Amino acid sequence: MAGFAGGQLQAGVDGTPVDPAAEEVVSAFGVHQAGITTAQQRYATFVAADLTITDGALLRRLLADISATVALVTQGQEPPPSPMFPDGAITPTDFATGLGAARLTMTVGVGARVLELPGITREAPRRLRPLPAFAGDHLDPRWGGGDLLVQICADDAQVVSAAMRALRARLPGYAVIRWTHSGFLSAPTGGGTPRNMFGHKDGTSNPRPGSAELADIVWSLPDEPAWFAGGTYLVFRKIRMKTASWDLTTRDEQDAVIGRRRSDGAPLTGEQEFDQPDLEDTGAGGAPVIAEDAHIRRAHGFSMLRRSYNYDYGFLTAMAGGSPDPLEHPEDHPHAPGTEDHHHGGHGKLDVGLLFCAYGNDPDSQFVAAQHRLAEHDRLNTFIQHTGSAIFAILPGFRDGGYVGDTLV
Ligand code: HEM
Repeated sequence: MAGFAGGQLQAGVDGTPVDPAAEEVVSAFGVHQAGITTAQQRYATFVAADLTITDGALLRRLLADISATVALVTQGQEPPPSPMFPDGAITPTDFATGLGAARLTMTVGVGARVLELPGITREAPRRLRPLPAFAGDHLDPRWGGGDLLVQICADDAQVVSAAMRALRARLPGYAVIRWTHSGFLSAPTGGGTPRNMFGHKDGTSNPRPGSAELADIVWSLPDEPAWFAGGTYLVFRKIRMKTASWDLTTRDEQDAVIGRRRSDGAPLTGEQEFDQPDLEDTGAGGAPVIAEDAHIRRAHGFSMLRRSYNYDYGFLTAMAGGSPDPLEHPEDHPHAPGTEDHHHGGHGKLDVGLLFCAYGNDPDSQFVAAQHRLAEHDRLNTFIQHTGSAIFAILPGFRDGGYVGDTLV
């Protein structure tokens, strides 16, 4: 991940927790949109919508309205009056009143179909292609695709929710929501790399914030259409993590699966988290210390900015009859000695995992190449299942007075 600013809660005068970071504002304006290289906030909701409009002029109106909303709510202010009810017939519900901006960012992307709308004359971003199928995919179409994406992130979950409501109010007549996902991510006390739902530090080998490497990997390449300068691509994957199986795996095997120690994030060949993994190092009998099928060996050499969030939907998905199939037989696993065989208490159906986000300027050589290699062979595959998938062109940034996408339409 790009970095993490997890504010420590302090006691206020009356003893209630006060978060000093709550007032912090991230500017919505700039060459690039906020929310990409912004130090990762604690909470995120991803909203994908399908357009119901059929021409570019209406798209312009929608993007301008969303931008006006983003410009205000990211500063902790109320959204502008709705263009549908300019006479104030409806008012926004003020459930974020009194809360700070909490580093709220709202990042807008478009799917391939948007570039085909009548009235859009600009060339499509060159690398906005549908993702191929990967071995082992278990995709639920309800959790994939979309014409429009807004990634909403903040250090306060209520602020994220309020921003989502403000966004939703702009959509009727233009678009319908297709899917949403919500996640969280907390840095350890004292800071450092957050852990994923398997307990490993996740994001260690990301390009460093502010580095030239990060800029080279993320921002649009020179051969892209001029209007897309400053944009990027986002590959989104909902990846279910089979926590029941993982928890029945020894710590040593868990570390071997990743190639890093769960305790401190260090590579199995090193002492500290940020030591370079030594993929040549061998141990007893000449076997590589970082196994041939360890996740970090398989993923090594592919550059991207991973800005993912954990999610925990518990049994909600199974109860809703979605995917994973609630009737799916849970995997066999050993039971504690002396206990009766049991009906698994449903734990095989927990929907917990990673809202995996890969930002980059060349999805084919970055995410797609990496995922083909991982899907083919990765010891982690026993424990995970990709269940949602989407790709978006993330629009360039915009300036005060402009709107997101103003170079496009
Ligand atoms: C639930 C699924 C996944 C889990 C639990 C997971 C976990 C991890 C962990 C713990 C690390 C080591 C720490 C770090 O450098 O961040 C890592 C590294 C990495 N992962 Fe994943 N990962 C998952 C899926 C993916 C996917 C789908 C991709 C891309 C297609 C990917 C690409 C990478 C890359 C590029 C690295 C850095 C490898 C290096 O050291 O050079 N991961 N992952």
